Amino acid sequence: SSVGDLVVVSNRQPYTHSYEATDDGREITVSRPAGGLTAGLDPVMQETDGTWIAWGDGEADADVTDENDEVRMPPESEAYTLRRLWLTDEEVEGYYYGYSNRVLWPLCHGGTMKAEYVERYWQRYQQVNRTFADATIEAASEDSLVWFQDYHFTLAPRQVREAVPDSTFLMHFWHITWPGWDTFRSCPNQEALLKGLLGNDLLGFHVERYCKNFLDCVDEALEDAFIDYDGNRVNYDGHTTTVRAFPMGIDADSIREHSESADEAFWSEFKTDHGIEPDTRVVVGVDRLDYTKGIVERLDAFERLLETRPEWREEVCYVQKANESRSLIPDYQDLQTEVQESIERINERFGTDDWQPVVYINEFIAQDELCGLYRYSDVMLVSAVRDGMNLVSKEYVAAQVDDDGVLVLSDQAGAYEELGEWALTINPYDTDAFAETIETALTMDPDDRGDRMAALREQVGSQDLFAWMDDIFATADELREKKVAND
Ligand code: UDP
Ligand code: G6P
Repeated sequence: SSVGDLVVVSNRQPYTHSYEATDDGREITVSRPAGGLTAGLDPVMQETDGTWIAWGDGEADADVTDENDEVRMPPESEAYTLRRLWLTDEEVEGYYYGYSNRVLWPLCHGGTMKAEYVERYWQRYQQVNRTFADATIEAASEDSLVWFQDYHFTLAPRQVREAVPDSTFLMHFWHITWPGWDTFRSCPNQEALLKGLLGNDLLGFHVERYCKNFLDCVDEALEDAFIDYDGNRVNYDGHTTTVRAFPMGIDADSIREHSESADEAFWSEFKTDHGIEPDTRVVVGVDRLDYTKGIVERLDAFERLLETRPEWREEVCYVQKANESRSLIPDYQDLQTEVQESIERINERFGTDDWQPVVYINEFIAQDELCGLYRYSDVMLVSAVRDGMNLVSKEYVAAQVDDDGVLVLSDQAGAYEELGEWALTINPYDTDAFAETIETALTMDPDDRGDRMAALREQVGSQDLFAWMDDIFATADELREKKVAND
C-alpha cells in the first residue's frame, strides 16, 4: 500500500509546545488544540509513520524541534514526524486570520457578506501556500502520497504538482462545506482557487452535495475544464482530478473506552463542582466558539423552553462546553460577547438560589471528562447553521454506552446525512420548534431512545475514522494503479 510514505500538510498542528511557569523558572508543556481536523488525523498518522507538515504556532515549539525543525510526536509514542514551519506575524495575520478565516471560512459556509476581500490577505495567502508547497516538495519522493488538508491550502497542490514526478500522488481533504456556484461566484479569486485544487489527483469532501457543488463551480468558472459528472472526474490542463465523498468518522472505540472509564462517582462530582443538583436533567452542547455552530440560536431555544414551559424550570440545566477560537477576529469576539450576554440574561431571568439554568465551561477538560459529560447528559444539542461534518455529534453517540441519550441534530450539519434518520432534527433558526424538540428529547420513552441510540451507535461505530482512512487510501491506491497503467 502507498500509506508508508505519507506526507500530511495542514495549517493546524496536532501538538503545541508552550512554557508554563514553575517554582524554579519555567517548563515546557505540550497540549492539543480543539478542532475536528487534528483530532481525526492524529490517530491516522500514528498508524502510518509519515511526516506531518504544519504551522508551528506555539511559543515553545522551536525549543523542542531539531535542526530540520522536526520533532517526533506524540510525546508518549513518537510514532511520526512533525515538521514545523515558522510564519511571520504578517503572514499569520494575512494568511491565517485574513484570507483563510475572514474570506474562505465565511464564503464556504455561505456567508458571502462576511467575506473581507483585502488585497494584503490574498497576497500573504499566496505567499504562505508557496512556503508550504516548497516544504512539501522537499519532503516528497516519487513514491509519496501527499495529503493536503482543508481551505488553508488551495493553491499549494498545483504548485507541488508542477515540481514533483508524475508518480507522486497528491490528494486533498476539504473538511468544511463547499458552497453552490451561486455563492462561490462572488469570490474574485475563484479561478485561482479552483485551478490550485485541480492540481490534486484526488479531492475528498464529507458529503455528495459538496462534491456536486464543487463540480458545478468548476463547470461555471473554468471554460477549459472537462467534467465527467458520472465518473466524478474533472480534466483540466491535461490533468485528471477525481472528486469523491468520504464522510469522516471518529475513533469510536477510543471514545467508548474513555466513556466507560467515567463512573457514576465522576458524574456526581461533576454536578457538585458545577452547582448542579443531583436529580437535575442535563442538556449539553460542546463547540469551538464559532458563528457556524448556532450557539446563540441554541441558547434562544433553551430560553424559549423555560419561558413557554415553566414546568421545566429547576428541572433541567444546560451545560455549554466551549473553546475559544480565532479570537483576534472581530466576528469571533462579537460571538463571545453575544454568548456571554445570552447566558447572563437567561440565568438572571430564570435562575433561583438552587438552580442556575445555564452552566458555561470555558476551561480545558480532559478527554475522560468530556466523554463522561457526553455519557451522562440526557440530551446533546448540535445546532450548527452550517457545518462540514460535526464530529462532536458522532463523539456523543459513541459515548452512549448505556444507550440512553438523545441526539438533537441540525439538518445543516454534514453529519445529518448519516445520522438524521435516528436523531431528532431541528432547524436552528426555528426557535419554537427547536424548544419543542428539546422537550421531546427530554421526555422520550426509554425504548424509543434506546432503539434510536443503538442504531446511531452502530452507524458511528461501523463508519469510524479507520474506515474513512481505509476508504481514502484504497481509492488513492486504485487511482494510482490506473495512472501507472495509462502511462
Ligand atoms: N472539542 C474539545 N473541546 C471543546 C470543543 C471541542 O475538545 O471545548 C473537540 C471535540 O471533542 C471535537 C473537535 O474539538 O473532537 C471539534 O470537531 P467538530 O468537527 O465538531 O468541529 P470543528 O471544531 O472541527 O469545526
Ligand atoms: C475546523 C477546520 C480546521 C481547523 C479547526 C480549528 O475544523 O476545518 O481546519 O483546524 O476548525 O480551527 P483553527 O483555526 O483553530 O485551526
